[in-house]
This record gives sequence, structure tokens and C-alpha cells, in this order.
Amino acid sequence: MAARGVGLLTRLPLHSQRRSRVQRSISRHLCCPGTVAANVGSEEQPLGGSEDKIPKKRFSEVQEERREQAQRTVLIRCPNNVNEKKFLKYLSQHGPINNHFFYESFGLHAVVEFCQKDSVDSLQNGTHTPKQRTDPVIPFKSRFLNLKLKNSSNQIPQQSYAQTNKQLPPSSKKLFELLNYAENIDDQLNTLLKAFQLTEENVRLRHLTCSLIEDIAAAYFPGCVIWPFGSSVNTFGKLGCDLDMFLDLDEIGKLDVHKNAGDFLMEFQMKTVPSERIATQKILSVIGECIDNFGPSCVGVQKILNARCPLLRFSHQASGFQCDLTVNNSIALKSSELLYIYGSLDSRVRALVFSVRCWARAHSLTSSIPGTWITNFSLTVMVIFFLQRRSPPILPTLDSLKSLADAEDRCILNGHNCTFVRDLYKIKPSGNTETLELLLKEFFEYFGNFAFNKNSINIRQGKEQNKPDSSPLYIQNPFETSLNISKNVSQSQLQKFVDLARDSAWILEQEDKSQPSLSSKQPWGLATLLLPPGAVSTPLSKKKKKPMNEKVKGLLASIKSSTTDSSKGTHGKRAISTQV
Ligand code: CTP
Ligand code: MG
Repeated sequence: MAARGVGLLTRLPLHSQRRSRVQRSISRHLCCPGTVAANVGSEEQPLGGSEDKIPKKRFSEVQEERREQAQRTVLIRCPNNVNEKKFLKYLSQHGPINNHFFYESFGLHAVVEFCQKDSVDSLQNGTHTPKQRTDPVIPFKSRFLNLKLKNSSNQIPQQSYAQTNKQLPPSSKKLFELLNYAENIDDQLNTLLKAFQLTEENVRLRHLTCSLIEDIAAAYFPGCVIWPFGSSVNTFGKLGCDLDMFLDLDEIGKLDVHKNAGDFLMEFQMKTVPSERIATQKILSVIGECIDNFGPSCVGVQKILNARCPLLRFSHQASGFQCDLTVNNSIALKSSELLYIYGSLDSRVRALVFSVRCWARAHSLTSSIPGTWITNFSLTVMVIFFLQRRSPPILPTLDSLKSLADAEDRCILNGHNCTFVRDLYKIKPSGNTETLELLLKEFFEYFGNFAFNKNSINIRQGKEQNKPDSSPLYIQNPFETSLNISKNVSQSQLQKFVDLARDSAWILEQEDKSQPSLSSKQPWGLATLLLPPGAVSTPLSKKKKKPMNEKVKGLLASIKSSTTDSSKGTHGKRAISTQV
């Protein structure tokens, strides 16, 4: 287990980090066999299996299991000096606990998963509304609770405090250390993946947050479901990424369908509205009010109702997630499922996507603020397209995934054909054996020379096609095929991407393949690509390679001295060190 505020990786000597698997940090208290938590998840396999030996679960199975797990879970704000053993014993009065972990975000929090849902009800029944408060409160019962110590005798020495789990990526300093210690560039890409991918605990916290918001929405719409989508579930999420969720009202009617048998059909009386869009805006508006007024820990609620896809944006302080809530966005969930399949098919896919995403972030090609820049989603689709273009292909086209689908896979959403095979075992693995190093270099070369002025990117067919309009970057939406997912990207941002891709291909071409001695602080391989602009000599800056190394060395020293370890300052995902 990690010491409080210090990531797991930082505590191990570097050699043991590389050679041994990272110790699992969830402690099990009275573990229930057969539950989702007992079957899936280590820090390296957070989403139900992306490597060959792990059973490859269907996306829908993983989502259902995570949802059910979240419903048996509570979030508890704890005093810093809580005694973990006593805490667990106290909670066990309500039933056996399957899993728990502690983390910090505006104070110490515990995520506690019971074996049975009844235990949550029992705990809630034994919970009081706050007493002795000076400020008035709105009595609102949720699964976000507050633990109070009754007397100071419960206090314990500092070394016995509950240990916390990190929810943030490593600092730049730590990452450069890890990359420098890798054996080769392939190892560097895998190291970066392990350092940045969502941990098992972070995935649980994301599903729990959706479940807590679902409880609030259910006050208006009993039987609704809030599903996470996007990078939280598609296997491409980086620690610190936002939490995209959508309110699924289609689930409501499904509950009681069997009661409609016989001569009669009973329907709910409902109000009519002029359009689906107005219905969405009205729903988001009332839920926004409810979250703003009564949602514990939900702050900064913004109603962005005039966007193409209306949404609510807010911070969930206790989890540290920036949340985007939309309504009936089932096509986006389907595209998350498609990405999940691509991410699970070959272990090189995620490693490459994470490195490209980190590279783009390091060079300010992407940003957490919406604008004319390229998005992580677009970058992911570009990597998928590139891997479809290899010989032999590493990833199948969407059309070939559709051709493998059976009747049960058939899916039409809002008139769009979203059918593809969902059983990962039906997809033949690729015979391509190219290294990650080669793929990274070729990715930069491919897109450094891509005819963006006339061609579009299309993962459905895995072929370059003529652009249907004059957008600088045209990436066809895989399901809503008349849409361009990178419509927002300006010519200057695209040019910046192309220039940096060419520079990076050149740097990798020049790279001395032998790793410097372990004592050397000089960045190499992937680390060189992640250095800030100007730190590296490029064909554009027309400098020679030798002086570059000296400059880079100096720069690394300055990064090391100036960068604070992100694991020390933990609050709020927007404040974390995600520059790489
Ligand atoms: N999406 C889409 N079309 C777009 C933008 C987004 O279909 N033009 C869908 C994708 O399924 C995407 C999800 O909405 O995964 C969430 O969008 P976003 O948060 O921008 O991307 P993420 O994939 O979640 O990546 P990030 O880690 O940057 O949040
Ligand atoms: Mg997202």
C-alpha cells in the first residue's frame, strides 16, 4: 500500500518497479468470492482485460458489473486520523465488506464496497442528519457520508493512519526518471502506459460518482441510469481525465414491460414538447438545479444547453472529477464500446495512443479547454486509422467488425447503423509483429506527410477518402457518418501538429538506440519527444544533434528542480501536473 499522498511507484526502488508487478493497493476485508471486484482489476488491468491472458469481457458486461458494484458502494469523508481497522469493524456491523480504499481530494475519503446492497440501506438507516451546525442545511440523504470521531481516544499515532491510493498521474520529474530507466523505446511506451492509465481504484471511483449522480437524477426520473462513457470506460483514459456521463431515460420503460400483457396496454401520461432537443434542455435544466442545490460535493454547475449536444458541466469535489452530463447520448456510448474493442484487441494499441496523447499534451496540441485544437478523441481515432493501414493491419476496419456481427449485435440508433461484433473472441488477432518504436516513428511520418488538404480519415473503411468539405482536418464520425469529429480544428493547429509530427519522426530517426548509462540524467527515446518545445534540436530549428544533448541535459535539470511532485498537491484534477 502506498504511503499517504505518495504514489505507489514512487516508493519502490526503480529496479523493483521495473521487474515486479506493482503491489495491489486495495485491501480486501471479508472478500466475497464471485463478485466483480474479485474477478477483475489490478492497477495494470483496470478495465476488464486488455492483455492476452486476461478474459476479454464484453463492454456491456463490464459496464453492468461496474454499475452493480457501484450500487453496493458508499463514499465516506473521514477525519485524517481515522483508525482503519476500527473503521472497517464499525462498518462491518452493516454487513461484510468486499473492498475498500482511501484517497485524498479536499480531505481524506474512503470508498467502501459492501458485498450486499442491503448493507448500504442499513448504513444509511443508521446515519444521522448533521447535528450542532451553525449553518442551516438541506436534509438530503445520499450515499456520500461523513464520519465523525466521537471522542479523542480514537486518535492514533500518525504512522497508523489509513494509507491512501493515488488518483493522479506521476509528475514530469517522476515520468522522466521512469522513462530514463526503461530498457528500450518499446519499454518506455509501456512504462508510460502503466504510469498514466486509470487504476482499478480510479475506475471504481468514476462508476461510483455516476451512481451518486444517478441517485439525484432518480428523484425526478425513477429507473433512469447514468452511464459513464468516453475515456473513463473506453480503455484510453489517462489519470485526471474528465468524467463523461449520460442520463439514459430509455431504461425507464424497460422495467415494467412484462406487465403489459393481456388485452390492455397501459401508458404513462406525459407532457409533450416541441422537439427532442427541447426535452433534453428541460431535463438537463431541472437536473442541473437539483445537482446545484442538493448534490453533496457538486460545485460550479454550468448549464451549457445551447451546444450541439446540450450538457451540464460541474466539479465533483470529493472525487476530484470534472463531470460532463448529457442526455440519451447512446451513440457516444456505442463509440466508447468500439474504442474499448480496439483498445483490447492488441496490447500495442493503448501503449501507442497513450504516448501520442502525452506527446500532444506536452506540446500544447491538446488542452483541457475547448477550442480550435485537436482533441484526444480525434488523436485516438487517428492512431486506430494508422494501425488499420499497416501491412498486415494491426486493427480491423469497422466494416469488417460489422461483417463479423450476428443478429444479436445488430444496433440501429437514431437511424444510424451502429452494428459491430461485440464478442472479442470472434476477432482474429493480427499477424503483424512490428515494434512500438517502429510504429511510433511511422505514425509521425505517416501523419507528417498525410494529404490533409484533400483526404479524410475514415476508420469504417480504413481508407483515405476525398474530403467532403473544406475543414482543415476531416475525421469521419464512425457512426454518424455525415459528421466530422475534428470540425473544430483550425488550419494553424493542424499545421502545428504536422510540423511537430515531422520533427518527432526526425528525432526518432536520429535517436541513438543504445540506452545511456543508468546514472545518466540525459533523456532519450520517448522522453526526448515529451520535452517542451524549443528543448530539442529539430530540422526546423536547423541545429545539430550534439549541442542538443547538452541543452536537453540542462533542461532536464531545471525541470527536476522546478517541478513539484503532483502526488503532494492533490486537489482538483485541473490543478494537476498533466503536462505530459
Ligand atoms: N465524442 C464524439 N464526437 C466528438 C467528440 C466526442 O462522438 N466530436 C464522443 C466520443 O465517444 C468521446 C466522448 O464523446 O470518447 C467524450 O468526449 P471527450 O471527453 O472529448 O473525449 P474522451 O474520449 O473522453 O477523451 P478525454 O480523455 O480527453 O476526455
Ligand atoms: Mg472525456
